[in-house]
Amino acid sequence: MSRTIIVSNRLPTKVLRTEESLTFQASEGGLATGLGSIYRQEGNVWVGWPGLFVEDANEEAYVREQLRDDSMVPVFLTEPEIRDFYEGFSNSTLWPTFHYFSQYATYEQSHWEAYVAVNEKFCQAVLALAGLEDTIWVHDYQLLLLPAMLRQARPEATIGFFLHIPFPSYELIRVLPWRKELLEGMLGADLLGFHTFGYMRHFLSAVSQLLGFSSQNGQIETGARTVLVDAFPMGIDYERYVQAAASEAAVQHEAVYREALREVRVILSIDRLDYSKGIAQRLRAFELLIQRYPEWREQVSLIMVVVPSRDQVAQYAALKEEIDELVGRINAQYRTITWTPIHYFYRSFPLEELASLYRLAEVALVTPMRDGMNLVAKEFVASKADGRGVLILSERAGAARELSDALIINPTDTGQLAEAMHDALVMPEDEQQLRMGAMQALVRQYNVFAWAKLFMARLAYSKMKQHTLA
Ligand code: UDP
Ligand code: G6P
Repeated sequence: MSRTIIVSNRLPTKVLRTEESLTFQASEGGLATGLGSIYRQEGNVWVGWPGLFVEDANEEAYVREQLRDDSMVPVFLTEPEIRDFYEGFSNSTLWPTFHYFSQYATYEQSHWEAYVAVNEKFCQAVLALAGLEDTIWVHDYQLLLLPAMLRQARPEATIGFFLHIPFPSYELIRVLPWRKELLEGMLGADLLGFHTFGYMRHFLSAVSQLLGFSSQNGQIETGARTVLVDAFPMGIDYERYVQAAASEAAVQHEAVYREALREVRVILSIDRLDYSKGIAQRLRAFELLIQRYPEWREQVSLIMVVVPSRDQVAQYAALKEEIDELVGRINAQYRTITWTPIHYFYRSFPLEELASLYRLAEVALVTPMRDGMNLVAKEFVASKADGRGVLILSERAGAARELSDALIINPTDTGQLAEAMHDALVMPEDEQQLRMGAMQALVRQYNVFAWAKLFMARLAYSKMKQHTLA
């Protein structure tokens, strides 16, 4: 039977080391939460890194065995690989460049070499597993070289690739010393998917300018093969969030929070710790709101969840300090005995608790500087069963292409953001429901299952076309 082998750096389950044992927990991040509902279908397998350094063969065997029961196959990274491939090339070179933070990017030859070696390691792991009939679906920026490596070993294989982050303008890509190798690596796939047409256009332009391959209607002729390129905006498992929000646990958690907060209205923000998310700018905008509109003091609080992420990378550690300091200063300046302006959590929450926060909040602030898609925006929409609530969304999140009924803002414009919060807080209920209803219809229809189905159908089509041309 043919199956789909999903390959990504991060598995949907991560292993944590506590004092006496190893424990397993759901991973955060849109790739893991979004695809988590897909891969269990039809005997699929997911190959990836379980997120920690295992110390010996016993631990390795234990993790392998535990994950096997859940259709996952681990690729273990050594400590130097975690440093140079994961924290290094993936998250200190590619991530900042692709999110238009080139000023944070480093260009280290040793990091590049580790990136090549780890992509090769993933290639071997996939080849050991994949039958000739299987479809291989590679995900995200940590594995840009993998499609071409797989292609070389298996010229006939069916290989799809999806990028979960933005693909930036050619002007950013050209700065990378290894730009050609990266594009050539991606072109090993039969089909390349992006969240938006904008990212796809940037990719086609980079391929044309750096490799000289032209394209027509999203079809690139490389000489040797034809590669299809298309936009597939990723969705969420809509029903899962509807059900989580309606669950007994979520309702109970909400009641506890509500009692603690009394009448105070809630604005919510949920992200991984990341400079691409605009967290510090959001805090400044909230401060501006309570400066410009003192009537909101004691009436409105910001609940801000920041999930720890990549904290060994210098820019992330610096951002953590900046956020700690800003929250501390704003709370110290404005709080009263009965009101805390910002409730700040630096940790992750299980699904039911996230759902209770989505229920509780009247306003969600999703204001990244750059974001491939942003699934939190869609999860908030899915969770608002009564159709009330307002989404404030950055024009630079992929999700803004679809969710045009949100209040769309420029995240660097603190004044505009403060005004949008005020507008959201005074928005009449019927307008809220009109906007939310339109967004719910869209997010429900273009859910993650529809997304995967569309991608797979297009991949099968690209293969069929190659065969008829051959
Ligand atoms: N998330 C989570 N636990 C938390 C906070 C967030 O599992 O405590 C999830 C959230 O539900 C969402 C994902 O992390 O599905 C974040 O995805 P998004 O696309 O918004 O951003 P990314 O982290 O991928 O950049
Ligand atoms: C984003 C990326 C994913 C990544 C996730 C969490 O969603 O697109 O590839 O897995 O962030 O980041 P981490 O570095 O913890 O895997």
